[in-house]
Amino acid sequence: MRKSFWDFCYELKNKHPRDYVGVFMAWKPALFVQTAELARKVLVKDNDHFQDRYLYSGHSDPLGSLNLFTVKNPIWSEMRQELSPMFTSLRLKKITELMNINSQQLVQKVQRDYVEKNECVNLKELFSMYTSDTVAYSVFGIRVSVLNDQLSPLWAITSHMVKWTFWRGLEFSMIFFMPAIAALLRLKFFSEPASEYIKKIFWDVTEERKSKGTSNDKDLVNHLLKLKDNLKLPANSDSELADNLMLAQAAVFILGSVETSSTTLSYCLHELAYHPEEQEILYREVDDALKRTGKNILEYDDLMELKYLSGCLRETMRKFPPVPYLDRICNKTYRLTDDVVIEKGTPVFVNVVSIHYDERYFPEPNEWRPERFSATSDSDNVQFTFMPFGEGPRFCIGKRYGMMQMRTALAQLIHKYKIEPSVPREVQSDPYSVILAPADGGSVKFVPR
Ligand code: HEM
Repeated sequence: MRKSFWDFCYELKNKHPRDYVGVFMAWKPALFVQTAELARKVLVKDNDHFQDRYLYSGHSDPLGSLNLFTVKNPIWSEMRQELSPMFTSLRLKKITELMNINSQQLVQKVQRDYVEKNECVNLKELFSMYTSDTVAYSVFGIRVSVLNDQLSPLWAITSHMVKWTFWRGLEFSMIFFMPAIAALLRLKFFSEPASEYIKKIFWDVTEERKSKGTSNDKDLVNHLLKLKDNLKLPANSDSELADNLMLAQAAVFILGSVETSSTTLSYCLHELAYHPEEQEILYREVDDALKRTGKNILEYDDLMELKYLSGCLRETMRKFPPVPYLDRICNKTYRLTDDVVIEKGTPVFVNVVSIHYDERYFPEPNEWRPERFSATSDSDNVQFTFMPFGEGPRFCIGKRYGMMQMRTALAQLIHKYKIEPSVPREVQSDPYSVILAPADGGSVKFVPR
């Protein structure tokens, strides 16, 4: 708990510059792989040996154990199949409209609170509010906005989720790295109040729709309800399992989308503040697109064309991958190389940070250069050297949703404000946060254009 797990991953490669390295997680031997080639084997080529994650997925906590991120096979494959259609381009296009409304509110909040009042912005908190509003809209169809200083039921949950205290950090470390202890202590992925709150919001929205006879195709509530009806559950299971399976997905969409995107946006603005030339290129790209299309706000198709904007986000996730490692458990004995056999039950971690900082793939890796990605598309993992969203069958299901919610926010912010530095260039990471987060949230100065 003295340093973040992200820093641990970063230092591991410097201390042990090898293709793979063994680590004891307390008494349990684990393997870290640190090259693109080995990552490809574990995540894709021989994925049938590594189908599940290592982390705790116990039954003391239905929302924590039944969500797509934690759930194990065979339930996982059925869930993934059912949930994937929720993230098609067509649906994402509809959700982009909502994201753009939230991004407008983000721009207005910046004006109100940080330009007019001249207050210091906490980037991580600001972007967590934004992503929380977006998830409230797109998952639950709730139109109250914390960015608008309204009392948002979602923010009541997410504001706790994004505050990493020592104890919450410790609890999550056990869940991720010492599942046996997490099971013994019956730890929970989501706190009791958060779980209750998510259930309440979900059922309130459902009841309201039933009573008014309305449905909203833009958000995910309807799709989750359909999912419940379509599930083929084991014969002896009860409807409580179906309810929990559905609620668990709502819960993980909240956690998955709020933390990772707010971290990326925070680091991206920090880098732009220190890169005025790159910032100008980005501004020009957005401004040209607005002039070309004659629109006030760029829509899904317009945003997809902005290569430099994508490059800024992708390079930020290259240098600061929010999730520093990808965990799997070996489910049948596997020969990794001529020298290494991984025994069944061994946790295997792909060290994403070490691959993203490998000079063979990214020369001068400490430099932030969006041009590195100018010739790549969103789906390009640059031969397994770039994996902020993971890889293989368990890659991030919200990848395109996450990219889009960052695109709308960044495009609108950069068009209204110049970003200038307000904190030292080196940002420390929060030692208690399981994913990467800037200590103290990070900050910049917004100057209206
Ligand atoms: C910048 C944004 C995001 C980043 C960097 C990110 C990163 C990741 C990573 C690294 C994984 C693990 C992949 C693997 O093990 O191979 C993952 C899985 C997952 N993410 Fe994301 N994520 C982001 C946004 C989102 C969003 C917006 C959602 C929900 C709407 C989401 C939901 C999930 C879920 C449910 C999984 C588990 C997938 C499975 O096991 O089948 N993520 N994400």
